[in-house]
Amino acid sequence: MTIDTQISVEDLKRSFPDTESGEDVPVFEDIWFKVDKGEFVCLIGHSGCGKTTILNILAGLDAPTSGGVIVDHEEVTGPSLDRAVIFQGHALMPWMTVRSNIAFAVRSRWPDWTKEKVFEHCQKYIDLVHLTGAENKKPSQLSGGMKQRVGIARAMAIEPKIMLMDEPFSALDALTRGSLQDEVLSICADTRQTVFMITHDIDEAMLLADRIILMTNGPKAKICEIVENTMPRTRTRHDMHRHPHYYPIRNHLIEFLVNRSEKFEAELSSSGYDPLHPPVVSLGLSKPSPALSEADTGPIGNNGEAAKALA
Ligand SMILES: Nc1ncnc2c1ncn2[C@@H]1O[C@H](COP(=O)(O)OP(=O)(O)O)[C@@H](O)[C@H]1O
Ligand SMILES: [Mg+2]
Repeated sequence: MTIDTQISVEDLKRSFPDTESGEDVPVFEDIWFKVDKGEFVCLIGHSGCGKTTILNILAGLDAPTSGGVIVDHEEVTGPSLDRAVIFQGHALMPWMTVRSNIAFAVRSRWPDWTKEKVFEHCQKYIDLVHLTGAENKKPSQLSGGMKQRVGIARAMAIEPKIMLMDEPFSALDALTRGSLQDEVLSICADTRQTVFMITHDIDEAMLLADRIILMTNGPKAKICEIVENTMPRTRTRHDMHRHPHYYPIRNHLIEFLVNRSEKFEAELSSSGYDPLHPPVVSLGLSKPSPALSEADTGPIGNNGEAAKALA
């Protein structure tokens, strides 16, 4: 581990018994990657390849069949308040108000804090996610976007070392998703929060992530490549499509999802692939990457095909 490494995933494998034969089948294997402090990493792959399972193992909610996860030089053996999870659904307690939902988490983190201190701390995060005025509402009185905001505030309020997000915006409409992405982007820029996030939205990954991990289809899914986001961190949803690296990166991701994720086994046998060091791809930089294919060169108007492939 280098000084800046916060998460080190080492030779991870998770098997589940096949429903028919009862034999153990690895969902994924040979998974190695690292996440540095302050980095935002997205994991992309088709449904069923094992993304949630990896996130659960990082959270300490599931255990690998072999291999392990090291966080801050310690092996993950169970859940910790150092690692906050934001799920696809909001997972709020329905009988509690916005403030109580957040305060509950804050009190479990700092049991000695006074009522006033907890209140003040909660308010800071309620304001941060723009829920000021909704403190006393219950989840049933909130829109989907607001509920997800409470989930984000609750996760941020415990000041975790790592934020783990499993498709946190996928159930929201496009407009709400966009504004929440902007908020997460600005919060992460301010706090330099380490984030590991699963998404199947290519533009979301390109907006938020410093690096995008491409996971092939299972069973025995592997990491195909790690794509570096070569656009500056100051990118926004409104201007990133004008950046010269935008289409090369986007097309590369679409090509992966539509074609390569499925046929990776064939690619593997001819490429000298080393799972410990999956190829790192930096598109748009002056030196062309060996992984650059024809599909990386021209713009594609939308990612409908990729979305279909992921459905
Ligand atoms: N507890 C479990 N028991 C048996 N199979 C499981 C269990 N959890 C996940 N799986 C299987 O592992 C595979 C990966 O699941 P998951 O991690 O949810 O994928 P993803 O998040 O990429 O869609 C799926 O085929 C799923 O059926
Ligand atoms: Mg999942």
